[in-house]
Amino acid sequence: MRAAHTADATTAEEGLAIQEEQAKLDSKFATDVAMQNTLLTPRFYTTDFDELDAIDVEPVRADWDNLIAEMQADPNKGHFRKTADWDHVDWDGMDPGLRKEFIDFLISSCTAEFSGCVLYKEMKRRGSNHDVTTLFQLMARDEARHAGFINDALREAGVAVNLGFLTQKKKYTYFRPKFIYYATYLSEKIGYARYITIFRHLEKHPEHRFHPIFKWFEEWCNDEFRHGEAFALLMKTDPKLTSGVNVWWIKFFLTAVYATMYVRDHQRPAFHEALGVDPDWYAHEVFTKTSKLSEQIFPITLDIEHPAWQPTLERLSAANKAIAAGKAQGGLGGRVKTLLNSARAAACFVRLYAIPANRHRVPESTRMEPAY
Ligand SMILES: [Fe+2]
Ligand SMILES: [Fe+2]
Repeated sequence: MRAAHTADATTAEEGLAIQEEQAKLDSKFATDVAMQNTLLTPRFYTTDFDELDAIDVEPVRADWDNLIAEMQADPNKGHFRKTADWDHVDWDGMDPGLRKEFIDFLISSCTAEFSGCVLYKEMKRRGSNHDVTTLFQLMARDEARHAGFINDALREAGVAVNLGFLTQKKKYTYFRPKFIYYATYLSEKIGYARYITIFRHLEKHPEHRFHPIFKWFEEWCNDEFRHGEAFALLMKTDPKLTSGVNVWWIKFFLTAVYATMYVRDHQRPAFHEALGVDPDWYAHEVFTKTSKLSEQIFPITLDIEHPAWQPTLERLSAANKAIAAGKAQGGLGGRVKTLLNSARAAACFVRLYAIPANRHRVPESTRMEPAY
């Protein structure tokens, strides 16, 4: 029998079919936002699935089997649905600035979750390697639930993302498998760090919990943690992926992921104020946790305590705001402003990348437990 709610779906396909039926309620506005492809918005990815399918997980067999067993036990089945803990949300009474930023946050999170679902589902569909397809099926299942749950929250506000439409129409960016590993591993681990940092903060300050979805973040982040573990194991099967010239690529992805998060979060001041969180503190906290975790597989971490790190991020964020202002202004003046500030932003990125990284030894076994 088919599940009636995405929380109970045991495959991504089942979850998406449920979403499809609800799509008649979905709004054009949210889907349009999710369709955007800029440097800062979540993208959809495609890759060389045959190369991914050829991975042999034998070198990490014991850790692999444990992780798969944990995911097959499905501790979060049925979790991602509204329960009695879901307090009433007064969308109409919400401050308009906060409402706008929070909806933007939900749409962007939903798109990011769904981006993972689409990539993992496709890998499962194309592959023939039993280990690989089993893993990707399980991860696609989780991401479909996550995206479905965020869409439930959005529907209460009268907006929702049409996920079926996105699958067909959103542009796909091609990444070589190794770039998929670096980018996806980091997005899973930073996702864990983001969710758990907000959850722990709101445990201490429940008066700032302005929406019930934050209560779900603890179990949620454990899913992301496991997904990150899976990518760490995949990378562990081939030492070349984390040595030699690839260390420069790892540094590039670390810098890009951290900088993107900083800039994106600084576009949402009302959201962070409502949470009672200083976005600079939050960014530093999330980077610290993500760096600590990524030591399990990456031989370097970014030196976020370097005197140039924080001021350069601030300049990057200012350039980004000026780009948005230039675009809004339009005309020749607006275009010049956009161009100048794009150059400023690029220079900031190069400056961040040039900060010497911290080096360290990677442990024998990658496996970790969520400890934050
Ligand atoms: Fe997720
Ligand atoms: Fe994930």
